[in-house]
Amino acid sequence: MAKKNSMTFIDNRTGKSYEYPILEATRGPWVVDVRSFYKDTGMFTYDPGFTSTASCNSELTFINGEKGELRYHGIEIEELATQHSYLEVCFLLSQGRLPDKEELHAFDLELRHRSFIHEGLKNLIESFPNTAHPMAILSSAVSALSSFYFEHLNINSEEEFEQMRRRLIAKIPTLAAFSYRHSLGIPFIYPDIERSFTENFLYMMRAYPGGKMHIGRQGEEQIREVEIEALDTIFTLHADHEQNASTTTVRGVASTGAHPYVAISAGISALWGRAHGGANESVIAQLEMIGSVKNVAAFVERAKDPDDNFRLMGFGHRVYKNFDPRAKVLKKLQDRLSDELSLDSELIMIAREIEKIALNDDYFVKRNLYPNIDFYSGVILYALGIPRSMFTPIFVIGRTVGWINQWEEFKKDETSKIARPRQLYIGK
Ligand code: CMC
Repeated sequence: MAKKNSMTFIDNRTGKSYEYPILEATRGPWVVDVRSFYKDTGMFTYDPGFTSTASCNSELTFINGEKGELRYHGIEIEELATQHSYLEVCFLLSQGRLPDKEELHAFDLELRHRSFIHEGLKNLIESFPNTAHPMAILSSAVSALSSFYFEHLNINSEEEFEQMRRRLIAKIPTLAAFSYRHSLGIPFIYPDIERSFTENFLYMMRAYPGGKMHIGRQGEEQIREVEIEALDTIFTLHADHEQNASTTTVRGVASTGAHPYVAISAGISALWGRAHGGANESVIAQLEMIGSVKNVAAFVERAKDPDDNFRLMGFGHRVYKNFDPRAKVLKKLQDRLSDELSLDSELIMIAREIEKIALNDDYFVKRNLYPNIDFYSGVILYALGIPRSMFTPIFVIGRTVGWINQWEEFKKDETSKIARPRQLYIGK
C-alpha cells in the first residue's frame, strides 16, 4: 500500500506505478522528491525554466507569489524595509537573526574599514574603455577579487568564511562607484569611514577630487536624507529573492567547487539581463522611447500584440501573481517622499499613465501583470537623479548578501550536488 505522504505516478504505457515521497515545507508548497525518478523509470522529468522544480532546500527567503508575500528568515519584507536598516538585514540574512545594538555597531564599523579595495584593482578598472557599462566592469572586478584576496576557503572555518562575506558586502559599493566614475573618466573617490554604508556609496559616486561635496544653497551637503533612506530601502528590498535566475547561477557555479568571488561575478552577469535586474534600467530607457504621455496607449497596445515582441519593462513576474510586495513598499515610499522627489517630469507622468492603464487593462489583469520592483525602483532612482547606468549596479549592491548566503547554504547542505540537468534530445 502506498505511504500517505507520497505521490504515485503511473506509466500508462505499461501500467507500472512508481511511488515518490512528498517532502514537507515549513511554509509554501510541499515537494515531490523525484531524485530516483530516472533510476526507477529510465525517464527524465521535463521542466524548462524550472517552473515546477525546487532545486534545493533553503531557510533564507520565503515567497508566496499568490499572496504577494516575501520574508527573510520568517520576517515580512514590509517590516524589514520600514523598521530596519539594510545593514541589519545583511546581519539577519547572514546570522539568521537581527543584531542587537552593539552587534550592529561592530558590524557597521567593520564594513566601513573593509570598504577599501586593493590599489591593484584600480588598474584593472582603469584598463576598461570609458564607454564600458559599469555592470561589465563590476562583474570583472568581482571576479578579480579572487586573485587579490585569494584564500583556499575552508567552509568549516566560520572565521574565514565570515571574513570573506564581510569583505564582499563592504567592497561591492566601492567597486560599483569606481566603475561608474571610470565610465565618466573622473578620478576615483575613496570610501570615507565617517559615513554610513549607504551614504558612503552616494559619496563615492558624487564627491569632487579630494572628497569635497557640492554644497547646496542652504549650506548643506548634497547628499540628502531622502536619498539615503530611499536607497537603503531599495538595498533591503533587493537583498535576497529565493532561487531567481542570478541566484541559481551562483549556486550552479558554487556546485562546481569554484571560488565564491567568481560565482558572484557570474551572478552579476546573469542579473544584467533585462528580464531580470537589467529591467530597472530598461524601464527608464523605455519611458524615454515612449517620449510623451500621448504615446502611452499605442505602446500598451504593442505590448499586448502577440505578434510584437515588445514588452512593458517593469511589469510581470515569474513568481508574483499578485502585487510584488517589494513594489508595494516602493510605491508607498514614492508617495510618502513625493514632495522631496522630482516627480513632475514628463517621464514620471508617462510612468504614471502606463501604471494606470495597465492596472485596469484586461490583458494585464487576466495575466496578473502588475508593476514589479524594477518599475518603481527605476522611477525612484530616476527621480533622485541617480544615473541610469547605475540602476542595475545598485541591485547588485543589495543582492550581494543574498548571493553569498545562498552560496554558503549550498556548501553546507549535505544533499548538494553538481548542477547537471539532462535534456530531451530531439536532434539527429
Ligand atoms: N508586457 C507584456 N506582456 C507580458 C509581460 C510584459 N512585461 N510580461 C509577461 N507578459 C505576457 C506574456 O506575453 C505572456 O502572454 P501569453 O500568455 O499571451 O503568451 C504572459 O504574460 C506570461 O508571460 P511569460 O513570459 O510566460 O512569464 P514569465 O514568468 O516567463 O516571465 C518576466 C516573467 C518577468 C520575465 C516577464 O514578465 C517580463 O519579461 N517582464 C518584463 C521584464 C521585467 O520587468 N523584469 C523584471 C522582473 S522583477 C525583478 C527580478 O526579480 O529580477
